[in-house]
Amino acid sequence: MPAMNRQWILARRPVGDIAAGDLELREAPIPEPAEGEFLARTIYLSLDPTNRIWMSDQDQYMPPVNIGEVMRGGTLGVVERSCHPGFKPGDIVSGIGGWQEYALAHVAQKLPAQANLPLPAYMSVMGMTGATAYFGLLDIGKPQAGETLVVSAAAGAVGSIVGQLGKLKGCHVVGIAGSDQKCRHVVEDFGFDACLNYRSASFAQELNAACPRGIDIDFENVGGTILDDILARINLRARIVLCGLIASYNAKNPVPGPYNFAQLLMKRAHLEGFIVSDYMRRMKEFWNEMSGWVESGQIKYDVTIVRGLEQAPDALRLLFTGGNTGKLLLQLGDEP
Ligand SMILES: NC(=O)c1ccc[n+]([C@@H]2O[C@H](COP(=O)([O-])OP(=O)(O)OC[C@H]3O[C@@H](n4cnc5c(N)ncnc54)[C@H](OP(=O)(O)O)[C@@H]3O)[C@@H](O)[C@H]2O)c1
Repeated sequence: MPAMNRQWILARRPVGDIAAGDLELREAPIPEPAEGEFLARTIYLSLDPTNRIWMSDQDQYMPPVNIGEVMRGGTLGVVERSCHPGFKPGDIVSGIGGWQEYALAHVAQKLPAQANLPLPAYMSVMGMTGATAYFGLLDIGKPQAGETLVVSAAAGAVGSIVGQLGKLKGCHVVGIAGSDQKCRHVVEDFGFDACLNYRSASFAQELNAACPRGIDIDFENVGGTILDDILARINLRARIVLCGLIASYNAKNPVPGPYNFAQLLMKRAHLEGFIVSDYMRRMKEFWNEMSGWVESGQIKYDVTIVRGLEQAPDALRLLFTGGNTGKLLLQLGDEP
């Protein structure tokens, strides 16, 4: 084991896009676990749009990362040293280890013995990403067979799973993504009925044509003009599952609400924001159902893996430029 632990520290709050100098790569000695603690070596770090929210000091769903702290991040690692009776060297654990190679913890989720998928699956479809899609669509979207479901950021981590769940529930599923190549992938590999490139000049007309019976459920990952185009087409009693607003996470100024807000009133629609951590008590239900679908091949998943801790800020930017398909992970070291 090396003597030093490399870590990304939040050096200042980004203004707009994340810039060089907002995060700093530093070294610190690898800590020794105290009684009740264990030391894990991180294998995979989850890179998520919400990392950008955590860097800001806007009002949010958990405390922002403080200046000078190790950047927060979800991790999957292997226990190397332990002074905790519940964890032993070699255990695979997931938790919030942060943007660093080694992390001390006294609590983490242990990968169960029956976990037999490749490790990245537990950081994507079987992790928070899959749970977000599962609870958001099924609990809030309440899909019924024959309804039309629209999913933005459809080639991404959450969106690609949402669309497949919608197909399992018998919906007509229309994805929205940022390139023709991503749209082909979403239809051909994930089985969506259609996928539209939001960069097309005729996007609004294409959305009309792809949703001839209007829109019953919008799984909203993006916001901005895409949300407005969707709201213009919602049906009576539509459900808008407000999962994310990535189009505005890098905004420098206050963002106006949707222009088509009145549609929520006219169509007696239900819009509900949610955060996946609200559903932690129901993770077992998700795990049991999703593992069956993934193992039987009914739900597929995709990952984009970038290697090397030093790449973390550049890799995170891929989420905002559309450089990823499926779940974006940073691999810090080899799997055991
Ligand atoms: N509520 C929760 O608990 C929860 C949990 C997880 C994630 N989320 C939210 O879910 C959304 C998706 O997250 P994810 O982890 O699955 O990321 P992701 O979809 O894998 O990656 C983000 C994608 O968003 C698209 N995008 C970025 N900027 C955009 C813009 N200005 N306009 C349109 N599309 C843009 C890009 O795809 P294109 O190439 O298609 O543009 C990019 O690949 C995010 O809003 C995230 O904050 C919420």
